[in-house]
Amino acid sequence: MGNLPIKLKKIAICTGGGDAPGLNAVIRAATLAAHNRGWDVYGIRDGYNGLLLPEEYEAGGLIPLTRDRVRGITHLGGTILGTTNRGNPLRYPVKGLDGTFQEVDRTDELLRSFQLHGIDALITIGGDGSMEIATALAKKGLWVVGVPKTIDNDLDQTVITFGFDTAASFATECLDRLHTTAASHSRIMVVEVMGRYAGWIALESGISGSADVILIPEIPYDLEKVAEKIMEREELGRKFCIVVVSEGARPKDGGYSVISHEVGRLERLGGVGEKVAASLQQLSGKETRLVVLGHLLRGGSPTTFDRLIAQRFGAAAVRAIDEGQRGIMVALDPPTVRYVPLESATSRMKTVPLDSDVILTARDLGICLGD
Ligand code: F6P
Repeated sequence: MGNLPIKLKKIAICTGGGDAPGLNAVIRAATLAAHNRGWDVYGIRDGYNGLLLPEEYEAGGLIPLTRDRVRGITHLGGTILGTTNRGNPLRYPVKGLDGTFQEVDRTDELLRSFQLHGIDALITIGGDGSMEIATALAKKGLWVVGVPKTIDNDLDQTVITFGFDTAASFATECLDRLHTTAASHSRIMVVEVMGRYAGWIALESGISGSADVILIPEIPYDLEKVAEKIMEREELGRKFCIVVVSEGARPKDGGYSVISHEVGRLERLGGVGEKVAASLQQLSGKETRLVVLGHLLRGGSPTTFDRLIAQRFGAAAVRAIDEGQRGIMVALDPPTVRYVPLESATSRMKTVPLDSDVILTARDLGICLGD
């Protein structure tokens, strides 16, 4: 091993954006693969904050990732390094004297900190925001390799991101459980799931959990059509209805439901389930209940699928560095893991294609997609 002209000594790993099941599995796999090449490995605390705000950390912003430190973490949700979605060094929120926050570019400072610590290369594990940051740092000369993570599965160039399977599987289990209450009480159960502007979680869990209606951002909905579906079922003697709503779903004539927009982070979506539930109760006259799965989808132990791809990604990221690859992201292209340019992963969002066979399957099964 070690095909590089220069001898690598030290790499760093960071996790950014929302946590997702499988982060620890990547950290362990990358750490072991790096140690097996004789490299030292350090974890950066809370995204890049360990380097940008070192004074905040009593034990230092860098954690030495020894074999002992990564022992027994593959099955654990969350990230042992911590993460943040308020620490984008390209648009870092800094409080001014008047108490308001301004977005400041802190990338040069960050690069100096990498140099100061003698870090030769970085493995950054994250979603679209993290890959955008990685692209900018790579352009400024940092040796960086990305690993795609997100429960939303909205990163382009990779067939799947780790975290998605665990989130979709848990949502499916919840739908199975909610069927009993829906059927016993002849109710409409509206279930709001995360996923941001992509409907992957809603669609795949909805089909797997035998939902009757699935509303996704890619297909703006008409609730009159949904009410018709509910009444059709009623006439057939099926007195309940399971409606899965993606947090990014929106009406034909309206926009996204946004909770808040803070400086230095993406807008927070939420609230669409409540609107859908209230309207359906009114339109159908049926008792309706809402369940918002929210952050439950991000927790728990990763599935076998997620553990495996997380470890394949972690090991591939180290192989990429060993081969001298930089400015790339590892991506799943079954049956292999390949490398793609970092910027290609963020040039567009991977939403559900309307002609995909998953959409066709839903329609063939008679699931109402709100159109
Ligand atoms: O990107 C993952 C995700 O869980 C989205 O599905 C959701 O919109 C967002 O993060 C929630 O972020 P936060 O935990 O910061 O509210």
